[in-house]
Amino acid sequence: MSASADPNQHAKGTTADGAVTQARLVDSARAHLTGNYRQAPIVMERGEGRQLYDVTGRRYLDMTAGIAVNLLGHSHPRLTAAIAAQAGKLIHCSNLYFIEPQVRLAERLAALSGFPRMFFGNSGAEANEAALKLARRYQQHVAAAPGRIEIVACHGSFHGRTMATVSITGQEKYRQGFGPMLEAVRFVPYGDLDAARAAISQERTCAFVLEPLQGEGGVRVPPPGYLRGLRELCGETGTILIYDEVQTGVGRTGEWFAFQHAEGPGQAVQPDIMTLAKGLAGGVPIGAMLCSDEVAKGFEPGTHASTFGGNALASAAALAVLEVIESEGLLAHVRAMGDHLGRGLDALCAAHPGQAKESRGKGLLRGLALAGDAVPTVTACREQGLLLSVAGGTVVRFAPALNVTAAELDEALALLGKVLAA
Ligand SMILES: Cc1ncc(COP(=O)(O)O)c(C=O)c1O
Repeated sequence: MSASADPNQHAKGTTADGAVTQARLVDSARAHLTGNYRQAPIVMERGEGRQLYDVTGRRYLDMTAGIAVNLLGHSHPRLTAAIAAQAGKLIHCSNLYFIEPQVRLAERLAALSGFPRMFFGNSGAEANEAALKLARRYQQHVAAAPGRIEIVACHGSFHGRTMATVSITGQEKYRQGFGPMLEAVRFVPYGDLDAARAAISQERTCAFVLEPLQGEGGVRVPPPGYLRGLRELCGETGTILIYDEVQTGVGRTGEWFAFQHAEGPGQAVQPDIMTLAKGLAGGVPIGAMLCSDEVAKGFEPGTHASTFGGNALASAAALAVLEVIESEGLLAHVRAMGDHLGRGLDALCAAHPGQAKESRGKGLLRGLALAGDAVPTVTACREQGLLLSVAGGTVVRFAPALNVTAAELDEALALLGKVLAA
């Protein structure tokens, strides 16, 4: 049954006990947790495919997938089995020793990406920290260019919440109150090659870091030629090019990595370093920084580390995610479903020209840019049982599981259309 046909269906099966539990847990969370999140007053209990259920039994159609994380949906049997099997064998033993799941994951990622070397951490921010540290150390110790310390980043970018990654995040709201920031960072407009050229200096610039498609900044696709031009510019000037593919990587845009179709189908633009996290292990925390053999020379024994990074559990989960994406043909599915979703969002723009201004994105990372604040729309959708998220303040973002069905997308589009019409 379509959710739009019966908006009350989500309340069916909810329990009074569940409502009491939910209220108690929300109160307790608000008393005990630091107040840094804007959480909805909902306590989620379990997930199944593209559905989430709260403790009252209410069902939500999940078009957010844990902010672009649950690539296989919730409780995928092969991911669950891989995690259980690994947990029964070895969860963690530190990076003092080698472990087979991590080595196999590295082999697999190297084959899929063409990057021969990698470092594993636990999050996107940690992967980006590793990229920044490697770039700085490479310039100072390998390229013998100690003056090349400046990081060039883009306005509207998002790279994480640690001190270094907020310092290179081109949105003032994330930096306010946390100064002083990392030194030697400069920002340029995203998509502006002339500005990049003017900012890069052979004496001063260490690296240029950007998302090949900005996610948090509002699902922004760069103009044609930008990524290729930047690649050339960085090559000519000895600047390390870093792609933050934390949100776009691992199938999200319809190829394994967004760089592989940066300028269109088959038109790859390979950076020197790429970072991954989010969906890589389907919800088990992991981050990865992949790089060329040359740049990897910047790290020597003892220069960088992470206690949990790429542990046996996370690596086994990531291997299972990669296997399922391949065996279930999910890249082609993402391209087809992405086109379907894009057409649906175009139709919403045509139907609601006052509110919906633009449909944009690639694969299953899509945004509907609204005329104003997207929060009330996303809140109203959630009240109707549809989970979406806000990007860049005015954009409603879709980042569903890669195995989402056309029927589920249609259900979501119908609900969003109803909210826009209200
Ligand atoms: C492009 C990008 N980089 C980095 C991050 C930070 O990742 P994490 O929250 O895992 O540290 C995010 C998170 O949204 C992201 O979208």
